Amino acid sequence: MTAAVPIDPEVAGQAPPVLSRNLPGLGHLLELRRAPIDLFWRVRNECGDVGEMNFAGNRVVLFSGEPAQEAFFRAPDEQLDQAAAYPFMTPVFGQGVVFDGTPEQRKQAMKNQSLRDSYMRGHAEVIAAEVRGMLDGLGDEGEIDLLDFFAELTLYTSSACLIGKQFRSELSPDYFKIFYDLEKGTDAIAYVNPHLPLPVFWTRDRARRKLVAKLEALFERRKHVEGDQRELFDILLSLRDAEGQPRYTIDQVTGMFISLMFAGHHTTSGTAAWSLIEFLRHPEYHARVVDEIDGLHASGGDITYQALRDIPVLEAGLKEALRLHPPLIILMRKVMHDFHYDGFKVPAGKLVAVSPAVSNRLPECFPDPDAFDPARYDDGREEDRQNFAWIPFGAGRHRCVGAAFAMMQLKSIFCVLLREYELELCQPDASYKNDHSKMVVQLQQPCRAHYRRRR
Ligand code: HEM
Repeated sequence: MTAAVPIDPEVAGQAPPVLSRNLPGLGHLLELRRAPIDLFWRVRNECGDVGEMNFAGNRVVLFSGEPAQEAFFRAPDEQLDQAAAYPFMTPVFGQGVVFDGTPEQRKQAMKNQSLRDSYMRGHAEVIAAEVRGMLDGLGDEGEIDLLDFFAELTLYTSSACLIGKQFRSELSPDYFKIFYDLEKGTDAIAYVNPHLPLPVFWTRDRARRKLVAKLEALFERRKHVEGDQRELFDILLSLRDAEGQPRYTIDQVTGMFISLMFAGHHTTSGTAAWSLIEFLRHPEYHARVVDEIDGLHASGGDITYQALRDIPVLEAGLKEALRLHPPLIILMRKVMHDFHYDGFKVPAGKLVAVSPAVSNRLPECFPDPDAFDPARYDDGREEDRQNFAWIPFGAGRHRCVGAAFAMMQLKSIFCVLLREYELELCQPDASYKNDHSKMVVQLQQPCRAHYRRRR
C-alpha cells in the first residue's frame, strides 16, 4: 500500500483535481441530492483515486481504490476527525450528544454494554420473539411494504436489545414514523445550512420535539421503577452531578436514544429489506437459504446465537446484500492537520471521504462487481477479507461496533420470517430502488412484497 505519511505541514503536495461541472455557489450539491453514487463514480472515473467535490462551499476530497481507502481508514483521529465531519447531524441528535461531544465522550457513549458477546445469545432469542410478534399480526396471506415492515420490526428489536425490554414494551408503531421524519431531515441541503426555513427541516424539528415529548411522558411513567426493572435510560436520568443536579436532561437522553437508533436502526432495516429483495430476485439461492433454515429448525435448534453462527448460506447472502446496497454510502472526516497521500496534499479544514458504494463494487477487488454472487464468500475466495475494500461496516478504528450484533439480528429475522412465510416481489423489478435524496438512504416507496403462510 501507499501509506499516508503525517509530515511537515510546510511540505508541498499537489492539490487534488477538482471534479468538472462545479456550479457557482452550489458546486456538486444538486448531483449529490439527485444521484450521489453516480457522482462518486464520476469522481473516480474523471479524477482517479483522489478527487475533489464541492458541496455548497464544503470541499470534500473523495478517496477511492483500496490503497487510498486504507490511508483514509488508518489515519489517526487527531488528523482526520470523524465528529467534526457531520455537523449537520446536530439538529437531529441535539446538543451534547455523541457527534457533538469530545472524542472521549463519544467513545464512552459507544461502549454500550449490550453489544458484548455474552449478551448476544439472549438478544437472538429476544429478536426471534419480536419477529414472531410482528408475524402474528399478518394473518395467512397479504402484502407488506418492506420499508414500513422492517423499520417497525427493527425499531422493536434494536430498542429491546440495545436499551431494554421494559423500554421496548412502552414503544408503539408511531415511534417509527417519527424516526422516519427525523431521518428525512438529513437532506444534503443541510450542507448549505441545516436551519434553512424549509419544510424538510421543519418536519425534522417537529419530529424531534414530538420524540422528546413522548419520551418525557415515558420517563415520567417510569420514574418510580426500581431495582432490576431499571434500564439504561432510567439509570442515566437518575444520575446526579456533584451539586445534586441531574447529570443529563431528558433532551440529552433523547439525543442518546436517537444516536443509538440512528447508528443501528435504518442501517439494519434497510439491509433486511435489500437482502429479502435480492433473495427473491435469485430463486435458486433463495431455495438454498430456505433449506438451510428448515434444516436448522428440523434439528430442534432454537434460534440461539450459537445456531446462528453456523448458517453460512444465509450469511453469505446477507454479506452480498450489504456489499451491493451499503446503507451508508459516504463516510467522512474533517482534516485537522494537512493530509498527504501519494503526492497529493489535502489541507486542514477540508473534508475527506470514502464511499462504501464505490468501494464495494471496485472491479479489481470484486470480479463481476454488479452481480449478486454469494459464492464470493466461499472458502478460497473470501472477498470480504479485503478489509479496506469490502467496507459496508467501514474499517479501521471507527469500524462499526454493532456489526456482529447487526449480522446476528439479520440472521435471526430471516430464520423466523422465511420459516413461516413464502414471499414474492409484486412490483416491476426496477421499481425496487433507494431514495438517495437524503443522507440517510431509504428504500423508495412503494416497495411491496406478497406473503403467504407456508404449509
Ligand atoms: C447493517 C447494519 C449496519 C451497518 C451497515 C453499519 C455501518 C456502519 C459504518 C459504515 C460505520 C463507520 C462509520 C464511519 O467510518 O464514519 C459504522 C459505525 C458505527 N456503527 Fe454501525 N452499522 C450497522 C449497524 C449498527 C448497529 C446495530 C449498531 C448498534 C449499536 C451500530 C453502531 C455503530 C457505532 C456506534 C458506530 C461508530 C463507531 C466509531 O465511530 O468508532 N451500527 N456503522
